[in-house]
Amino acid sequence: MAKRVFPTGTLMQGKKGLIMGVANKNSIAWAIAEQLAAQGAELAFTYQGEALERRVRPLAESLGADIIVPCDVTDDASMDACFDAIKDTWGEMDFLVHSIAFAGREQLAGSFIDQTTREGFATAMDISAYSFVDSARRASALMDAGGAMITMTYLGSERVIPNYNVMGVAKAALEACTRYLAADLGPRGIRVNAISAGPLKTLAAAGIGSGRHMFRFNKAAAALRENTELEGVAGAALYLLSSLGTSCTGETHHVDGGFHAIGMPQEEALKQSLGID
Ligand SMILES: NC(=O)c1ccc[n+]([C@@H]2O[C@H](COP(=O)([O-])OP(=O)(O)OC[C@H]3O[C@@H](n4cnc5c(N)ncnc54)[C@H](O)[C@@H]3O)[C@@H](O)[C@H]2O)c1
Repeated sequence: MAKRVFPTGTLMQGKKGLIMGVANKNSIAWAIAEQLAAQGAELAFTYQGEALERRVRPLAESLGADIIVPCDVTDDASMDACFDAIKDTWGEMDFLVHSIAFAGREQLAGSFIDQTTREGFATAMDISAYSFVDSARRASALMDAGGAMITMTYLGSERVIPNYNVMGVAKAALEACTRYLAADLGPRGIRVNAISAGPLKTLAAAGIGSGRHMFRFNKAAAALRENTELEGVAGAALYLLSSLGTSCTGETHHVDGGFHAIGMPQEEALKQSLGID
């Protein structure tokens, strides 16, 4: 894979923020972190458990992070410790990147009606939607001078995508949470937005059945006839988290090569994605 290059500058100079959701160098949150650092941001990172610390710590250290803490969003004590660490070290923060989702693998293959259990539904909602509300509440308590937050979503919230199942329902809730948070935090000068990214090859995406078909179909049907680039997602994050995004809040911004805008793919695109002449 070619090394990603992010535009450098000073858009985030003097800004401090927390990146939640790096698992490895393919994570969307990592590309966003690299872009924000290239514009001068000071970053803190969370990792989910010891197994991921091995991967996340060296990445975070390579960007000069001095706050690198464990955080499981389902555990209140872990969330307390994470945000206490930020308060003790920085006192205040300017931005939050929430890039976390989870649903059991068995929920993400087959039909929604058969695969979705009460427990699976609750887990997906807790980790993928409620955790943004909880993180936003804690982060905003450290944003007396205003700030900005983003979360990551996917088109499966708006349309039926095969095998995305309960995660689509959780993403719909996450997008609604984004609007409610934007309304609550707007008067305090805190903007809250979501980025709806097209499919990207990450650990989380590997858990969804029909991945190969998804990438081929997206490439063939997207307006740009290409799959989504991490650089585009990171650029959108920079816009939404910096002063460039002033006046933008409560928005779900698509970065998916225009796939969301297409009602019906061209016939040749369909044939191409299905591999038929
Ligand atoms: N990859 C895609 O195609 C795609 C497209 C659109 C949106 N997204 C969204 O982007 C976000 C990031 O996913 P990614 O694709 O970079 O995959 P990823 O696997 O790199 O990141 C997912 C992160 O969620 C974290 N996580 C899961 N459960 C957690 C918990 N209980 N506590 C704390 N952290 C937890 C994992 O540790 C991991 O860092 C997710 O919200 C995902 O739904 C992904």
